[in-house]
This record gives sequence, structure tokens and C-alpha cells, in this order.
Amino acid sequence: MKDAQPRTIYLKDYQAPDYWIDTTHLTFDLHEDYALVTSVLQMRLNGEKEFESGTLPALTLHGEELDLVSLHRDGEELEGDQYQLAKGTLIVSVKQPTFELQVVTRIRPQENTSLEGLYKSNGMFCTQCEAEGFRKITYYLDRPDVMSVFTTKVIASQARYPVLLANGNAIDKGELENDRHYVTWEDPFKKPSYLFALVAGDLECIEDRFTTMSGRDVTLKIFTESHNIHKCDHAMVSLKKSMRWDEEVYGREYDLDIFMIVAVDHFNMGAMENKGLNIFNSSCVLASPETATDATYQRIEAIVAHEYFHNWSGNRVTCRDWFQLSLKEGFTVFRDAEFSADMNSRGVKRIQDASLLRTAQFAEDAGPMAHPIRPESFIEISNFYTLTVYEKGCEVVRMIHTILGAGQFRKGTDLYFDRHDGEAATCEDFVKAMEDASGVDLTQFRHWYSQAGTPVMTVTDKYDAESGDYHLTIAQSCPATPGQEQKKPFHIPVGIALLDEQGQLLPLNAAGDKEQVLSIKQSEETFVVKGCKSKPLPSLLRNFSAPVRVRYDYSKDDLVFLMKHDTDSFNRWDACQRLGVAAIEQLVEQPQQAVDPQLVDAFGAVIADAAMDKAVKAEMLCLPSEASLAEQADVIQPLAIVAARKKVKQAIAVAHKDALQALYNELNHERVYKPEAADIAERTLKNVCLGYLSAVNEAECVQLAAKQYDDASNMTDRRAALGCVIDAHYRDEALVERLLTDFYDRYKGNSNVMDDWFAVQSSSAELGTVEKVKALMQHDSFDSTSPNKLRSLIGGFTRNMTHFHTAGGTGYEFLADRVIELDKQNPQVASRIMTPLTRWKKFEPVTSGLMKNALERIKAVHNLSTDVYEVVNKSL
Ligand code: ARG
Ligand code: ZN
Repeated sequence: MKDAQPRTIYLKDYQAPDYWIDTTHLTFDLHEDYALVTSVLQMRLNGEKEFESGTLPALTLHGEELDLVSLHRDGEELEGDQYQLAKGTLIVSVKQPTFELQVVTRIRPQENTSLEGLYKSNGMFCTQCEAEGFRKITYYLDRPDVMSVFTTKVIASQARYPVLLANGNAIDKGELENDRHYVTWEDPFKKPSYLFALVAGDLECIEDRFTTMSGRDVTLKIFTESHNIHKCDHAMVSLKKSMRWDEEVYGREYDLDIFMIVAVDHFNMGAMENKGLNIFNSSCVLASPETATDATYQRIEAIVAHEYFHNWSGNRVTCRDWFQLSLKEGFTVFRDAEFSADMNSRGVKRIQDASLLRTAQFAEDAGPMAHPIRPESFIEISNFYTLTVYEKGCEVVRMIHTILGAGQFRKGTDLYFDRHDGEAATCEDFVKAMEDASGVDLTQFRHWYSQAGTPVMTVTDKYDAESGDYHLTIAQSCPATPGQEQKKPFHIPVGIALLDEQGQLLPLNAAGDKEQVLSIKQSEETFVVKGCKSKPLPSLLRNFSAPVRVRYDYSKDDLVFLMKHDTDSFNRWDACQRLGVAAIEQLVEQPQQAVDPQLVDAFGAVIADAAMDKAVKAEMLCLPSEASLAEQADVIQPLAIVAARKKVKQAIAVAHKDALQALYNELNHERVYKPEAADIAERTLKNVCLGYLSAVNEAECVQLAAKQYDDASNMTDRRAALGCVIDAHYRDEALVERLLTDFYDRYKGNSNVMDDWFAVQSSSAELGTVEKVKALMQHDSFDSTSPNKLRSLIGGFTRNMTHFHTAGGTGYEFLADRVIELDKQNPQVASRIMTPLTRWKKFEPVTSGLMKNALERIKAVHNLSTDVYEVVNKSL
């Protein structure tokens, strides 16, 4: 509810600020019903800007939901005629080019349900300031190009809030009257307000140390509520690995004497990279073998790394404005992806990332909110923390890495960090540093920053038996997106290889290279490979070398051949996916047909392939997800997709039951839980087998899953088994009930596991009806103020292709009601949770109309937040 009339902000309108803030002294006096914030700012006119001679521009500060208590300029209390409060701003008249401004505001963290600014979570105070939350704490130049040195004094009750934290190093502490105490923190590094953080609570911590490459000693602390203190070790191990990796791979050393992570339960996103004081959603920190799955362990490792890496890519070098968000996010996701690849299975990490991109980012790029990784305009910046800015942004950085090669890329990042340390930079600065360091011209490559949409690469080929010449023609195009009708050709790095009839890679050039990265720059280009004895089979876009769709007319035989022989694990997996998509799409059109026997055989061969890497094998055996099938469909028929996919899965399961059972048995052995790549691969593959077995309509198959559930010594196996029993072909409702109750009884004290208990039900094709979801909202363990719970229960339901899209549109109406209700409480979560509705145009007409009705109803609500306003208006 920021503005009565939401305003669009444009990149082209960017202007440097009129004033800088050299230092910021904050004092927080925290009480049970309010907090008093005193801010003392040393202000300085921006001398690089031109102003009308003899006049000083008024200072316009941002501020929202604040009570102004007092305002002093150079010690003089300002009266009403010397300042002005207007929607979202405080305008102060200025007399001197440098001056001190003291602002006292009163805020109510206890009533802050938006989880932006200062708020309370489980009795502790915490902050979330990115992107524009600091303005809910005090009046300020809340924009990332204004960087200041912060000192923060936190005062609170000693008994209730023994731990008082802020950015930087603690420089003073003491006791005050009335059982109050204080700690003062000083952050020597200039930073924008979005990196400010404060925590006050009754917390415990685990402590460790790290010696940096130059021999400095750093204290590491992870804070959480005392009952979770034994679940922080994995995050600590991940932090130390990240610190070492960033030194080794990027030459980046940590710069403060202390690094802290705090876990909080109520958090809008995954985590936040505040300088020296990262604040995390507890779901991205806490893990024990009994309560966290392998996927959670890996997610924690990745997010701890991501936030740590931001210390350089985000904090030391920050963003000039929010249009440059991908400068820090795309680059940092690339850094964390490479870290995870080095720590785990590189092939599988690539498959998972490409799969997420193709499923969810491609859908975003094809929807009404499509935007370039550097958007040109927005109404609400919170809506642009997107898969496009993060994941496609990562792919764009990866393409630079591919085009330059690792060595030149590292020269580029060194130059970038060197040049811009302590500054607020732009995407252009990043690309320029890459160009300057490598000498490679990236002029055309820059289109990736300004053009939205997913390019389509159409590949055709021709073989001349007489000359032995093979012609590969690559054409590119990009569909129109909102505001961008015509696109210029992209510079696309395309990894290729050619396979001969024996499945051997052919030399591609005189040098004998068997793999090559082509630089495609024209709308159509042809490459010729000489000396082919027979028509080769192309392996295209190896390692998913660019975020594009590839159209090539592979026959089923070709795909089966690639599954067997391609040396690129991404492409082997992709061949398998293509085969799966084709088989399922065929059944979507003609449900009565038999399942493609070639697909069933091909999956049998994968199951039987004892030599294949287990981690890759597990990925290959996963049929394309419902979401990915929906993304690839021209017109989405939700129930037909669900039925077709299920039929294919059952056919594979029935045909290969014995082999699946044998593989399951081979992998099902007891050992001490370790979240390490080899063990994870075995558990994943085992649970994929169990998933297939439970698609066989036999009581003994469900019993096998139930046994795994009961015997499990870790959450990975127990959770997988629970999912199998719930979705099993052979229905045993009493068993489902027993396990759900058992799961609840075991883990009801653990909020993060309870999230999953809600999600497993709401997302289930068997259980997740609207009525069920409504009933679960009334459950004692549900908490409608918790974004995690909302994402699990409501978000889980919106991913439930069976029940969300059930005829009659009750699912859409339910979601619209939740969005309207939530918008008053937490606009960021409201706006995110409605995403599935925005894809209405892709559904078959009846469904589509019902989705649109739900959106219209949201749009009609008065005083929508800027968040929901923007999404709903752009979608209709
Ligand atoms: N910078 C954080 C990260 O990616 C995300 C913060 C997003 N906050 C928000 N309100 N959208 O690590
Ligand atoms: Zn980030």
C-alpha cells in the first residue's frame, strides 16, 4: 500500500543522488510495543552534479510507515515549515553543502507482518532491508548507490534479548538501568542501506574459526534458538568450504574479523547477504540427518555459499540501481553453481539447473511478466527477484565464461573487482571489465542484457555422401515479449559434437577437436565438417551452453542412440527427456494408445546399465515433470498431462519391475548418514526405484515403501517412502493415514519438517483437494504469518496439477481469496503465490477463462499493494 497510484520507474530516468551520506549513526531503542530509532547522518552535496548556482536542492529522503518524532539539522530542531512529509518521502530544506541531520522515528516491529524492515519472528527482532525495506526503519536515501559507513547501537532488555547483533565488529557494550543493555557495532566498509542488519534475541550460537589466505583469523558464528543449536553444523562446514573456494577460484578473501549467520523462521526469501551478518530463513540453515533430506543438505550448502560469495559480488561491489540486480544475483548464482558443482556431481548439478531454467524460467519468459535480465522498468522491485534475473542471469555469466574460457574470465573478474571495489556498479561495468581483460568483443553479446524472451535455435543438417561434407545450419529467432516486438540476433555459444555410427565422436576440424563451441551471431549460419564417412548425428548445445530452446528433428532411434553414446551427460539426459516428452505428448493427444514401447525399452536399458554414474542415472530415470510438460505444451491440458505421465510411469514400472526391485535391493543397505555426493547418488537412485515400484498396482509394492518408511534412519529415506505410499498405484488409505499421523507425531516440534508435512498433502494428486487444503489451514501447526507455511500449503496446492485445475475453478477461487487476504498482510508473498494464475493464456479455453475470472476479482480489489497491482495488471 505504498502509493495510491502505483508509478512505473524507468532505467532511462536514472540520476545520481543530490546528496551523499558519509556516515550513518543509528541507535535502536527496542521495546515490547515500539522501537525508537535515532539516526545521525553526515550529509554532503554531490559535487559532481550541476545545480542552479547559489541554490542547494532540498533533500528528499525515503520513508514508509514511520512516525517522525523529531528532526534536527546541524543541531537545530526543524519546524513544520522547514520540512515536508509527502507519500513515502520526507523533504528537508538545506542551508549548507555539508550538514548533519538527526532523525528520530518511532516504528512498530511487532505489528510488521510484511517482513520488510524491522520485524519480530518468534520473539526475536530481525531485519530484511533488500530491496527497499530500510525506509521502513528510518528516513534515508534508501537507494543502493548511496553508500555510507554505519555504526549501530542496539539497546534492549537484557533478559529477553541477551544477544544484540548488527553489521561489522562489536566495539562497545554495557549495562543500563532497568535491566537493559546495549552493544555498539561498527562496520568499517561503506555500504548501501539494503545491506544493513540488526538482530536482537535469546539465541545460542556455534562458533568456529577460519584463517584466510593472508593469514588473518576470522571468527564464525551461527545463531539460532537454543532448541535448534545442534542443527547448525552442516551450515558451518558449508561456510568454511565456501570461504576456501572463493579464495582458490576467485582470489577473494573475507574482510572483517567476524562473520555471522542468524536463522529466523519468518522470512520472505531464502537468505540475505547483509554485511558480516547474514540472515537466513531457518529452512536454509538447519539440518540433521533425521530432519533434513539430501536435497535440503545440498540447498543449505548452496545458499550459505551464495550469501557468502555476495560479500564480494554484491557488497564490496554493489549495484548502482535495482535495474542492475542481475549484476550481483546472476553472477553470484553462477559462483554458487560452480561451487556446488565442485563439491558434488558436476553433471547432475548442470542437469538440475538447466531443468529448473527450462521449466520455470522459460515459462516466465513466455508469460506476461517476461523481462530482460536487466529490466527497463518496474512498478515494484520486489517482483523482479525472478528466475530471469537470478537463473537466466547466471546463464548469461556462464556464457561469458564459456566464450572467454576460464583463464580470461578470471582476469575479467579480477579487473572488475579491482576497478569497482567500494563502488556501486552496473551490468555494463561487468561486461566492460570482461572485454577489457580478454580483448574479446562482447558488443552483440550485450543483447542478452536488454532483450527478454527465450531464443529458439532451429537446426537442420545435410550430408553429402560423395564429398563427405556435413552441413549443419543453425537459425535463431526470439518470440515477441511485452514491449519488445522485434529482437536482434543474439551471440550464442553452441557446444557441439558429432557422433558416428559406432557412437564415436568425430573430429570437427583440421586440428582434430571432437568438441567445439560455435559462436552463433547471425540469424542463420552454416558450418561444414569435412570427411564424414556416413551421416553423423549431432549432439547440440552440449552442457546446455546457452539458455535457448533447440529444435532438431531427432528420430526416436537418434534419441535412444544419444542416450547410450553421447559423452555429454547433460545431452544424454536431455535425449531421455525428449523421448519422454514425445511419448507423453502422444498420450495427451490420444489417451487410449499404448505407451511407446521404444521408450519403455530405453528406460529398461538405463536401469540395466551398471556402468552408468548413479547420480546421472537417477536423473535420467526421472520422467519430465508435469510442470515441464506444461511448459512445452502449446495448449496446456492439465488433467490429460497428469494421466498421460502416470500411464507412462506405470508402464515402465510394470515392464521392469524385477530389475527395479533388484536395483533397489542392491542399493538399500544401512550405513551412517553422510550428505556426500556418492551416498546421495545411491539414496536418490534407490528412491527413484521405489517411486517406480510404487507405480505397480500390487500390495507388496506399497508394503515395501511402508517398510522403508518404518525402518528409515534418515529423513531422505523416510520422506521418499512417505511420498511413495501417498501416491502409490495400489491404494491403502489406512496405511496413508497411519504414516501421515506417524510423521506428524514424530516431527510436530520441528517447524521446517512440518512445512513439508503440509506440502506433501496439498501437492498430492491423491490427497490435495481444495477441501483438504482448507482444512489444513485450520490445523494447529499451520501459521498463516509464516511465508514457509504459506508456500508449502498454498504453493504446494498451486503446483498440484490435478486438484488446482479441477473443473469448476474452485482452486482458482481459493487462490484468489488467499491472495486478496494475504495482500494486506504480506504483499511480497501474496504477489509470488499468484504466479500460476498469470499463465492463464496457455490453458485450454474453459480453464483459461476460469483463471482469468480469478485474476479479475483480484484486480477489482481497492488499495492493492504495488506488488500485487503490478502482477495482476500486467497479466490481464
Ligand atoms: N539478496 C538476497 C539473495 O539473493 C535476496 C533478497 C531478496 N529480498 C526481497 N525482498 N526480494 O541472496
Ligand atoms: Zn543473492
